[in-house]
Amino acid sequence: MDKEIHIGNHDKFLDKFVQNSGELSLLGKGDGAEVMLQKIRANENVFIEPGTPSEIMEFFYILEGELELEKNCKKAVLKSGDYFYSHYLKETVQFNTITDVTLLYFSTQPVFHYISRAIKDLLILAEKVDIKDRYTHDHIQRVKDYAVKIGNKINLSKEKIENLGFAALFHDLGKIYVPDEILNKPGKLTKDEFDIIKKHPLDGAGLVKDTYFEGIEEIIRQHHERMDGSGYPYGLKGSDILIEAKIIAVCDTYDAMTTDRVYRKAFSPQAAVKEISSLKGTHYDEKVVDTLIDILREEGVI
Ligand SMILES: [Fe+2]
Ligand SMILES: [Fe+2]
Repeated sequence: MDKEIHIGNHDKFLDKFVQNSGELSLLGKGDGAEVMLQKIRANENVFIEPGTPSEIMEFFYILEGELELEKNCKKAVLKSGDYFYSHYLKETVQFNTITDVTLLYFSTQPVFHYISRAIKDLLILAEKVDIKDRYTHDHIQRVKDYAVKIGNKINLSKEKIENLGFAALFHDLGKIYVPDEILNKPGKLTKDEFDIIKKHPLDGAGLVKDTYFEGIEEIIRQHHERMDGSGYPYGLKGSDILIEAKIIAVCDTYDAMTTDRVYRKAFSPQAAVKEISSLKGTHYDEKVVDTLIDILREEGVI
């Protein structure tokens, strides 16, 4: 971000999506927090789910309209100028709109994309790729979990960690265009077949383009680049590769190695780590590999 002051008006949002019950627009975000404008039609039931982590604070200021909020079995009618917020929420809170309501919605953690249509569609696609690629269930979730842990440990900014998490979930989206026979071919790939595989980082980046996730495009594009320039699609080297892409490369390889594939049995975590360590500096970023090893040790995996 090069500008420090962002000016917007109600026609110009960072992103917006329309739901059956109304619409939600993202007005601003930074340092993990988000400010949204939520419009809800009359007579809708709205639920605020407990967030993970529970420290999340969600603040709602009623700009227009009336709603009825249920709290500890008591109902309160709130009007324009009233506000309510949840912090350390343990149970779902429900409110009903009496009239059309416009809320200013502030959250200390990113929530917008979890509820936006774009993420749901992309996640459905990502899960399809996971199945198509015949990884055991949750490959992308595990890559995301490890990537975020590494990001935290090397002190990436909250904003970067957020993007890293989404890039990890969506890293292989482009494989949706790779025929199943090639993706799961037990033997060696021909040059032509490998050329088709090599397209997936660019195709994946294309799929997130024009969405709220623009910031992750380049990470997806680079997740098969290798330190010595032997990767694809561009053959980028060392410091030309984004740290987020280097993290995903290591986590993706580690998870792929420790998972049964059609053509081979899973490696043990120890064997996978040994193999990845032997490619430190040539394929993988040294600091990233060492950080993953630290995490696996701390978790008692190795
Ligand atoms: Fe990939
Ligand atoms: Fe992967």
